[in-house]
Amino acid sequence: MDEELFEAARDVRLRAHAPYSNFLVGAALRTAAGNVHAGANVENAAYPEGWCAEPSAIAHMIAASVEKGARRIVALTCVADPIGGRPTTPCGGCRQRIAEFSGPDTLVHCLSPEGAGRTYTMAELLPGAFSMDKA
Ligand code: THU
Repeated sequence: MDEELFEAARDVRLRAHAPYSNFLVGAALRTAAGNVHAGANVENAAYPEGWCAEPSAIAHMIAASVEKGARRIVALTCVADPIGGRPTTPCGGCRQRIAEFSGPDTLVHCLSPEGAGRTYTMAELLPGAFSMDKA
């Protein structure tokens, strides 16, 4: 558990725009350069036009990053209410979005606003991820 990421995700979650689902999500990520970027889900009256918390955090990372390592995600914390007693995990599309800037060892902490939940690696969340990286 990364306390700074948890607090950033928990706090930004409360600023989510989710009047249609009432399901607030906050995401905060730490880059290899050590920076923290956070974002919340932003829904829309035209439902498919809304987006998740994870891409909001990624967009902040991209807008802020200049130095080397500033676009590598080493850990990401997602804060939302558990569903059916299970921690909320990133949706399929968001797993691919996170994978674009991470590796199999990147940690994804899925936590409730009270801090309960569990940690996954990206290898667990998205085995066999599609990548254009030839290295
Ligand atoms: N949501 C996220 O922001 N992240 C996830 O990982 C799962 C789902 C949002 C999308 C939508 O605004 C709401 O949660 C209900 O699906």
